[in-house]
Amino acid sequence: MTTPPAFIVRPAGWHLSHRALHAVRRTVFIKEQNVPEAEEWDDNDEHSRHVLALTVYGEPIGTGRLLPDGHIGRMAVLREWRGMGVGSTILSTLLELARQDGLRTIRLNAQTHALDFYARHGFTIVGDEFMEAGIPHREMQIRLNP
Ligand SMILES: CC(C)(COP(=O)(O)OP(=O)(O)OC[C@H]1O[C@@H](n2cnc3c(N)ncnc32)[C@H](O)[C@@H]1OP(=O)(O)O)[C@@H](O)C(=O)NCCC(=O)NCCS
Repeated sequence: MTTPPAFIVRPAGWHLSHRALHAVRRTVFIKEQNVPEAEEWDDNDEHSRHVLALTVYGEPIGTGRLLPDGHIGRMAVLREWRGMGVGSTILSTLLELARQDGLRTIRLNAQTHALDFYARHGFTIVGDEFMEAGIPHREMQIRLNP
């Protein structure tokens, strides 16, 4: 029997965990996906709830954020950690934070390659395809039970 890969996922303050959140997003979005630096960092970070995934040794491996208006974004997992449940755990944690905040409708702009990933968590497509940072996206949403 193989042991499942060990990681933890937890809420993270932007200022306190700034370096870790930056490191993952820089690797995934700026280096891997060629998102322009100026588009990656915005004022929303300051006001969002952030979630961070870490190895048991404390190395950052994944991120996600929830804006006060109910938008989820910046979902990123380092390539070598994908397919092991890290992204799903980040998304579930963000949805739990949204519930705690009393949010009812959660929206996100999904890169089209990740539509199935979000659909498995109950999100449905609500808009046509559009381009953002040179990457095709569709808007998706989920309604949370009170
Ligand atoms: C999308 C992303 C966050 C998913 O993270 P992850 O840790 O790989 O996700 P999980 O391991 O929890 O995946 C759960 C399931 O979704 C599937 N899945 C993961 N990424 C997928 C993708 N891009 N397209 C389709 N299915 C995907 C996995 O195969 C897995 O299925 P399984 O349980 O049957 O094996 C990750 O692929 C990533 O960081 N991609 C690059 C950045 C990106 O595109 N972010 C999304 C912006 S909208």
